[in-house]
Amino acid sequence: MTLPVSEIEACALEDVDKADTPSNLQLVRAKYLGRKGLLTVRRRALKSLPVASRAALGREINDCANKISQVIESRMAVLKQRAIDDALRREALDVSLPGRRQSNGSLHPLTQVMHRIEDIFVGAGFDVVEGPEIETDYYNFTALNIPPDHPARAMHDTFYLDDGGKAELVLRTHTSPAQIRTMEARNPPLRVISPGRVYRRDSDMTHSPMFHQVEGLAIDRDLGLAHLKGVIGDFLNRFFEKRLAVRFRPSYFPFTEPSAEVDVQCVHCGGEGCRSCKYTGWLEVMGCGVVNPRVLRMGGVDPDAWSGYAFGFGVDRLAMLYFGVADLRQFYAGELDFLAQFDRL
Ligand code: DAH
Repeated sequence: MTLPVSEIEACALEDVDKADTPSNLQLVRAKYLGRKGLLTVRRRALKSLPVASRAALGREINDCANKISQVIESRMAVLKQRAIDDALRREALDVSLPGRRQSNGSLHPLTQVMHRIEDIFVGAGFDVVEGPEIETDYYNFTALNIPPDHPARAMHDTFYLDDGGKAELVLRTHTSPAQIRTMEARNPPLRVISPGRVYRRDSDMTHSPMFHQVEGLAIDRDLGLAHLKGVIGDFLNRFFEKRLAVRFRPSYFPFTEPSAEVDVQCVHCGGEGCRSCKYTGWLEVMGCGVVNPRVLRMGGVDPDAWSGYAFGFGVDRLAMLYFGVADLRQFYAGELDFLAQFDRL
């Protein structure tokens, strides 16, 4: 039984409507218009019809084929566009979505403070030099004119290395050995600072067994206390970014003569008195003095031709004051939440 062409057309239109993807629609095209398609088969069958009826049916088949072809074309355009839209929607970038933040990390607050200190002194003409953390008794004590019975040499203050009872190697207790090493390595005039780690048997809110110091040494002709005061006062003002009163209190260190301790007006209360300054209005920040001629001689410098000043201070203490941190141990606890607060510099 052969279907009337009009019925083939109706079926075709329905199939086109139902095709929901370009490839399904291709199948519909093949079903009706392909080499073995329903209309193609019908067209081929015309040959066996009487000539009289061929023309009319042939036209009908052609019209139907054209119609189906057109409908498929326009449906194909719609389906292709829809496929593109779907793909775009699937891959769409939501530009309003917050990005994944990359955390950059930051320098440890003590490193930041160390860099700041170095910048200030380099700006004042000082070189930065470093010494070893494992020192000999000679550089750490003897050459600095520290007498054999000085309390700093006691086992309960200093970490001695196990060197078979000779007690010649220590973890340096201060950066002052850098003074001797610098005098040995350079000729005056010279200006250096020497930052680094130092070690003492001490541990509480304001003391850590390992902490940081910066040593300063300047040697030139006729260098003395006045130069020292100028450089230290200028450094403290720059470091705290404020004009602060600075006072020099007479003190004693074996390696300087005269020696002084430096107090700075309390950075927190401005001198009124608060917990930071233990209600004195002053903060003790460093030791200093005119280099003892015996120490110059130990370093191979002629005290009749040259003179100098030296100073030494704790970096951790300056960092606590600068950042307003109450417990020194927080700098060493490795707590990211704490450390991440200090990216000011
Ligand atoms: N080395 C001393 C200390 O650790 C600090 C010091 C005082 C260094 C006086 C100096 C100085 O250079 O002149 O306590």
